[in-house]
Amino acid sequence: MSSKRLNGKVAIVTGAARGVGRGIVLRLAQEGAKVVAADLSSCEETINEVRRAVSDCEVSAAEVNVVDSESVNALVDSVARKHGALDIIVNNAAVVQTMMLVADTPDSEFDRIYNVNFRGVFNGSRAAARVMREQKSGSIINIGSWYAKQGFANFAVYCATKAAVMRMTEALALEMAPFGVRANTVCPGNTETEMLKKAMREEAVLRGISFEAQVQHVKDSIPLGRLGRPEDIAAAIVYLSSEEGAYITGEALNVNGGVIFS
Ligand SMILES: NC(=O)c1ccc[n+]([C@@H]2O[C@H](COP(=O)([O-])OP(=O)(O)OC[C@H]3O[C@@H](n4cnc5c(N)ncnc54)[C@H](O)[C@@H]3O)[C@@H](O)[C@H]2O)c1
Repeated sequence: MSSKRLNGKVAIVTGAARGVGRGIVLRLAQEGAKVVAADLSSCEETINEVRRAVSDCEVSAAEVNVVDSESVNALVDSVARKHGALDIIVNNAAVVQTMMLVADTPDSEFDRIYNVNFRGVFNGSRAAARVMREQKSGSIINIGSWYAKQGFANFAVYCATKAAVMRMTEALALEMAPFGVRANTVCPGNTETEMLKKAMREEAVLRGISFEAQVQHVKDSIPLGRLGRPEDIAAAIVYLSSEEGAYITGEALNVNGGVIFS
């Protein structure tokens, strides 16, 4: 018997071209899942990295724009048809807002963040829920943020979309429980990716300090003393989507190095 925890499971990961999404694809493949890496951008580098690391993996790339429900429905339906099931979806794609006050936020920035971060996650959750309701099994994991748990100045729209993801996922968990389908949110803290670099660059300028000083400031605010890594988030995804997480649904799991919210 294989010791891989997700042997033969069929998974979709959005936002898989880089960062946390890439780390999730790698871990799921290492655990024996058949993984579809989906993104607006090319997932070629992700696929190459996974194939180099996992010799017997089944991983493929797909183009998706999570904002567009037809694009998401087509992806989910084609994966379910091809493999005969969809066991796991990780709705990870998101964008970080440009730092600004609510008072200065134009409609265009609100729409950009809302559409990817909330509508996109909703689109993925809905398409997966339709398939999983029929098959009476499955795990939906949405990526929130520690910014879902508290408001942060200059990030109001981003915070609000992540809080919306968390609440929508709780409701979804209740709706899907009778069908044997689980839904959870994973809330990363500051995690070493391009998204974090962009945010830290902007914050350094705003505070009038160097990028390096900003990175140190962020590290100092984390009880475990280091930034998160994509593999930290991926470990939580494996746990929640495997048998070990069979009794967990409606949860919003912090993976943030010990930052606690009151
Ligand atoms: N990095 C952090 O510090 C941090 C902290 C908390 C939460 N998160 C969350 O973790 C998740 C991954 O973040 P990351 O840091 O890897 O970000 P990233 O910017 O490095 O990667 C995001 C990916 O999403 C893709 N994407 C964007 N819009 C898309 C769309 N419309 N359709 C399909 N794909 C799209 C991008 O092409 C990119 O590959 C996000 O949900 C993010 O909000 C990240």
